[in-house]
Amino acid sequence: MDKLIIKGPTKLKGEVAISASKNATLPILAATLLFPEKIEFKNLPGLSDIKFFMQILESLGAGIEDLKSVDCTSVNKTYADYDLVRKMRASILVLGPLLSRFGEAVVSLPGGCAIGSRPVDIHLTGMEALGAEIILEKGYVKAKADRLKGAKIDLDFPSVGATENLMMAAVWAEGETLISNAAREPEIEDLANFLKEFGCDIQGAGTSRITIKGRDFKSYKPAKEIKYSIIGDRIEAATYIIAGLMTDSHIKVTHFHPEHIKAVIDVLIKMGAKLETHDNAIEVFPSGKLNGTKIDTAPFPGFPTDVQAQLMALMGISNGLSFVRENIFENRFMHVPELVRMGMDIELEASAAIIEGQTNLSPAPVMCTDLRASAALILAALVTAGESEINRIYHLDRGYENLCGKLKDLGANIERVKA
Ligand code: UD1
Repeated sequence: MDKLIIKGPTKLKGEVAISASKNATLPILAATLLFPEKIEFKNLPGLSDIKFFMQILESLGAGIEDLKSVDCTSVNKTYADYDLVRKMRASILVLGPLLSRFGEAVVSLPGGCAIGSRPVDIHLTGMEALGAEIILEKGYVKAKADRLKGAKIDLDFPSVGATENLMMAAVWAEGETLISNAAREPEIEDLANFLKEFGCDIQGAGTSRITIKGRDFKSYKPAKEIKYSIIGDRIEAATYIIAGLMTDSHIKVTHFHPEHIKAVIDVLIKMGAKLETHDNAIEVFPSGKLNGTKIDTAPFPGFPTDVQAQLMALMGISNGLSFVRENIFENRFMHVPELVRMGMDIELEASAAIIEGQTNLSPAPVMCTDLRASAALILAALVTAGESEINRIYHLDRGYENLCGKLKDLGANIERVKA
């Protein structure tokens, strides 16, 4: 198992190009199951989560060219096994497309994960509204429908995954589907843009009301060769912007849409960050010590839960008190004990954290617990004098392409070594 050794404090300098979004790629890969043709991609990110999702597609009969193309012409299985699904919750996203194209799907229930229990009830109620018969048996979801029927579905909560799953299910349903209280994340819009490449009629993605006009799969003919380009990863971008601010550096973070992290930018500017927004980039200027602030995580366009841990690392070295309320996942504070080991002053009260900014952190061996928590530890290590050791970094490989190389190119003293 590899670990990272980071020698700080460090200044960063230069440009960093953001990779394609993990959370946009996963539903788009699931959506390839809808279409019997070879689909090429311009920029799939080299992440373990993506390679893993490709394995699921392969297990269903898809032809895969590593990080280049997916061909679901010969998919002949509709069964996603526990051993594959348990490794990644997003595997549940194969349910909608399999059910829509083949009229049946058996997918293992993904179970909880480190940041919370994460049920899939909203996905399943939505599929039932589309006419699917759902049975839960021995840890599997068994779904069936001769042909799904368009319906009006009002989500109890704007779940990102449920919105994506239902959009895909509605593609080959009979008639029109309206999803209200839909999630509005940019990744949903990217999925809709991908589906539109195949002639799907989808309106309103990016708003809370999405309509999908279903078509008949039997009459579908691939019309043109598709080579799709996925949006830049807004969470990766926010992480590097925060790295620039914590190290009081001048860096440019490129290849993503700044409007996708407007809530983050607004908070950082309020804290005193000097940022300049370009078309597809944000330039970070040395801003000195920032001021503490208060945030509440919320569904898009609110402050993203996926940037909460990284912002907390910044708050941990800012002036005065900061407050964080986590509203999306019940157990998303696992970075806190590790940040405290590095000298931060953070107290937890139920779903809230109170952070008192510190001047000096101390190097310590720490452990990654989930993807974004790991990013927070890297950020803290960049500003800690001495050698920090970050263990269990396989979590980082799930969501940050070439993290070590990108930080090295920016001038960080970071090495990946065998533990
Ligand atoms: C996606 C992102 C994840 C991000 C999250 C919230 C991907 C692959 N992952 O996860 O990085 O942190 O959005 O922005 O895109 N819930 C239910 N029942 C359901 C579905 C969800 O109770 O059927 C709850 C979850 O337990 C959680 C909340 O709703 O507390 C948000 O979940 P959801 O929006 O579905 O997140 P994911 O799609 O799993």
